[in-house]
Amino acid sequence: MGKLNKEIEEHYFTDRLFEDIVNRLTNKGIDLSKVERSDIAGVDEFHVRGAVVSKELASSINLEGVKVLDVGSGLGGPCRMLASDYDCIVTGIDLSHEYVRTAKKLSKLVKLDHKTSFSQGDATHLPFEDESFDVVWTQHVQMNIPDKQRFYNEIHRVLKTGGYFLFYDIFKKDENEVSYPMPWASNANQSFLFKTSELEDLLKTLGQSKVNTNDQTAAGIDFFESMIANMKPDPNRLGLNLLMGESTKPKLMNLMQHLKKGALELQSGVYLK
Ligand SMILES: C[S@@+](CC[C@H](N)C(=O)[O-])C[C@H]1O[C@@H](n2cnc3c(N)ncnc32)[C@H](O)[C@@H]1O
Repeated sequence: MGKLNKEIEEHYFTDRLFEDIVNRLTNKGIDLSKVERSDIAGVDEFHVRGAVVSKELASSINLEGVKVLDVGSGLGGPCRMLASDYDCIVTGIDLSHEYVRTAKKLSKLVKLDHKTSFSQGDATHLPFEDESFDVVWTQHVQMNIPDKQRFYNEIHRVLKTGGYFLFYDIFKKDENEVSYPMPWASNANQSFLFKTSELEDLLKTLGQSKVNTNDQTAAGIDFFESMIANMKPDPNRLGLNLLMGESTKPKLMNLMQHLKKGALELQSGVYLK
């Protein structure tokens, strides 16, 4: 693994993550044989607006029973939602060993391991045959990837002709420097922001056609504001604090401020190959 990928894996590393989640569930009095997806929803979707935005994105096309790849799948929350609500067969790939280990164990915990599988790997070298998925899905991953061309080429390569590419991501709006830490990067060396117009050009060059895009910035700001207003001290909280550690607050505040001042934006979209 290259130096950058090691640094990025380190940025996301949390030791004994699954065990920490299980301890908190137990302390909350939840029977481990009856854990529901909703019990872990605060922690297993690592992007602005969590489970709500994934459901919105999923409802934008017909996903019933299809084969999906989630690139940079994290703890696998969106994969489990697609498996349980749409009967999809979902594969997740992620750079982080600890996230992949946790994703597998969480799927087993909520009894969705027969429809979801996870493996460790690099999004820029996908270990899959050409045209092997009906849908490719990615949320909040490309900001860690310097070689955008390679990242989207790989997505395009493994997607079937006639299949859909769904994304939800953070983009820069201007050339000004961004302050760190951010949820996806401890410092500027781990962050590679580009613009929505650049993504649009890139996908067009690959031959994909735009079905729709949605500016999610205002909804993202609302999410942060209500999250901050409702934050109560709770030692068993199962939130993104587990993933972002001691720097949770500066990371979230930085992202919210940049969205508010218009330096960054959130966009989701659907393209057809
Ligand atoms: C902010 S998290 C988002 C996780 C997940 N997509 C979600 O929305 O819940 C970013 C994820 O991208 C993964 N990642 C970063 N660079 C990657 C790469 N080159 N290949 C695969 N995964 C990568 C990280 O390990 C991390 O799990």
